[in-house]
Amino acid sequence: VTELPPFSHLQLTPLPKVVVGGHEVRGGRLRDHADRMWKESRAISPDLLEAASAALDAADSRIRPGTCLPASPRILKFVEEPWAPFDATARQAVARLRQDIESFRMENDLGHVVVVNIASTEHLPREPLPQQWHELDSLLDTAAWPALPSSSIYAIAAFEANASYINFTPSLGATPAAIQQLALSRRLPHAGYDGKSGETMLKAVLAPMFAARHLHVSSWVGHNILGNLDGWVLQDATHKEPKLRSKDHLVGEVLGYAPQSLVSIEFIESMGDWKTAWNHIHFEGFMSTRMAFQFTWQGCDSILAAPLVIDLARLAERAHRDGEYGPMPWLSFFFKSSPTPVPQDFASQWDALTAWSESKKVSRSTAGATPSTLDRHS
Ligand SMILES: NC(=O)c1ccc[n+]([C@@H]2O[C@H](COP(=O)([O-])OP(=O)(O)OC[C@H]3O[C@@H](n4cnc5c(N)ncnc54)[C@H](O)[C@@H]3O)[C@@H](O)[C@H]2O)c1
Repeated sequence: VTELPPFSHLQLTPLPKVVVGGHEVRGGRLRDHADRMWKESRAISPDLLEAASAALDAADSRIRPGTCLPASPRILKFVEEPWAPFDATARQAVARLRQDIESFRMENDLGHVVVVNIASTEHLPREPLPQQWHELDSLLDTAAWPALPSSSIYAIAAFEANASYINFTPSLGATPAAIQQLALSRRLPHAGYDGKSGETMLKAVLAPMFAARHLHVSSWVGHNILGNLDGWVLQDATHKEPKLRSKDHLVGEVLGYAPQSLVSIEFIESMGDWKTAWNHIHFEGFMSTRMAFQFTWQGCDSILAAPLVIDLARLAERAHRDGEYGPMPWLSFFFKSSPTPVPQDFASQWDALTAWSESKKVSRSTAGATPSTLDRHS
């Protein structure tokens, strides 16, 4: 997206200048994981993989052990020693991850770091988090405090390391009010949550059509099958719950009423990295005549998601360069949900994104920017 003409004046970081590092809880070389994109999914050609092997090895050398706090039985099934050292408290995990992010910035002589959460979908915490940062902060030392998920521990570490934070998953991340306060106090931008790369993107395009033609939608059913590790994790009902919620709210918000809806996600191993989404939409036309619309989307999950992650990192860096901080609702184009209310139809979200880009033509610098910066775009 960021290579399109509406963004050409933004002077975004050129791709060769982007350095990739990260945290993982599984072993294995990136090059071998990438090879499976050919061997199992026929998605990236062997000559391209060969050409990228040195870059993959270099990125591997910048990957550090992540945290699994609080441990989920599903994730622990594939965690490998020494990739998730034991962290006695969330504070200990934050300190370790923060140190890694700061070292990554210094060792690679980087202007800014954007932390993007693309880890497996977590289950939702079973107890509410405190609303105020000082209250949450004081709980970080509590051993065995299960309420704070890893994605939020990474978000806190990112902000404490002066990095921006993007949540590409339906996990909690920086969504809790207390963690948003931390981002504001550190004057750092963040966005999320859950990348909109396939079926939900189509819902954001199609639901406004039914609304504009005053065609009443009676029901919207979406069945999804996929075969990668993400799908395997989502087999667990507690991990699937946030994903189902994330995929299901958009249609009702666009239409202004809630048709009967059903979203299912099933793991079918033979699909590899491919995902099929079949949707059946039952709607009523003139004189309540019932009609149906169906579509089948067959997408390669990683091929759809990876360029969006690159777009988001470049755009977040640009916002930070201009002193913008707080939530970035103009990035809702890329997400299924947002921590702040945003219009859910695709065209409005595209307009918000391009309006933000256009605003950079008139004001090249926003020194002394305001929080929620993006009030003016919301
Ligand atoms: N099209 C897409 O691929 C797409 C679209 C929207 C959202 N997402 C979300 O992005 C996330 C990643 O999707 P994926 O298909 O790349 O999944 P994946 O299973 O291929 O990759 C997830 C990785 O996260 C690692 N991991 C798990 N827990 C971790 C932790 N605590 N710390 C560090 N690493 C951890 C796993 O070892 C794995 O390598 C999922 O939450 C998914 O729902 C993906």
